[in-house]
Amino acid sequence: MKHSFDKKPIVILGPMESESAWLIDQLGQRQEKSIGAYTFHEGRIDGYPVVICRCYIGVVNSAAAATLAITQYDPLCVIIQGTSGAHDPDLHQGDIILGENLVELGSFYTLHRDKGQGSKIFDWTQPGAEINVNKSIDRVKTLHSDSRILNIADSVPYADGIVRRGTIGAADIWNRELDMIAHLRRTLGTDCEEMEGFGVAQVCAQMKVPCADIRVISNSEWHSQEEFNEKYGEQCQMFVLQVIRRLIAEQTLM
Ligand code: 5AD
Repeated sequence: MKHSFDKKPIVILGPMESESAWLIDQLGQRQEKSIGAYTFHEGRIDGYPVVICRCYIGVVNSAAAATLAITQYDPLCVIIQGTSGAHDPDLHQGDIILGENLVELGSFYTLHRDKGQGSKIFDWTQPGAEINVNKSIDRVKTLHSDSRILNIADSVPYADGIVRRGTIGAADIWNRELDMIAHLRRTLGTDCEEMEGFGVAQVCAQMKVPCADIRVISNSEWHSQEEFNEKYGEQCQMFVLQVIRRLIAEQTLM
């Protein structure tokens, strides 16, 4: 299924329909190609090739979609974007976090405890993800969005909340316990959590493809009225479209 683009496309991943359909609608000269369950919507924005995939929820799905996209399209960059839950009590629905730091929330090493001693989750430590870059195999706890993409994102005007850089945690878990949220924020410095970013960044780091994670806050346990609302997924896509347009106009990464 090799594509026929003349330039390296920008790949955008969004896990849910509410985090990908609006952007797919913005594509000109649209075509779709599927590999198994993963559908890649190829098209153009401002004449430049862009591929958008609803990658489905979770670290495995999004990492699989990123891997397929990289092998099929040799992309200029991969942007994973969508909704997230606030860890920082000062963040509110509609605010946008640019993932300068990306951390894993679901990989732990526990100490031995005898039968009947129960579990002490706050004592669990993180081994870090095994990453091989340039034949050097390391354990890495923090990955980073590409600074050139974040520099562009910094300059996008946004009226529906604050936009700032921060630390985004990811795992196949939806934390609602405030003591756990505070613990993760204290130990890992997380501003918000979602279920894909670190996995996509891990694949991109090993495949040497620039990557960025951009997230809107769609829910906050710190504020009882701020329950998950999928409308924020569209707001994030609108912001990301402006990022894409500027990446293209300024020929960043090209
Ligand atoms: N915790 C985990 N994932 C969240 N998402 C939105 N808010 C949260 C949260 N508080 C996103 C995930 C996943 C989907 C269920 O919504 O990234 O794709």
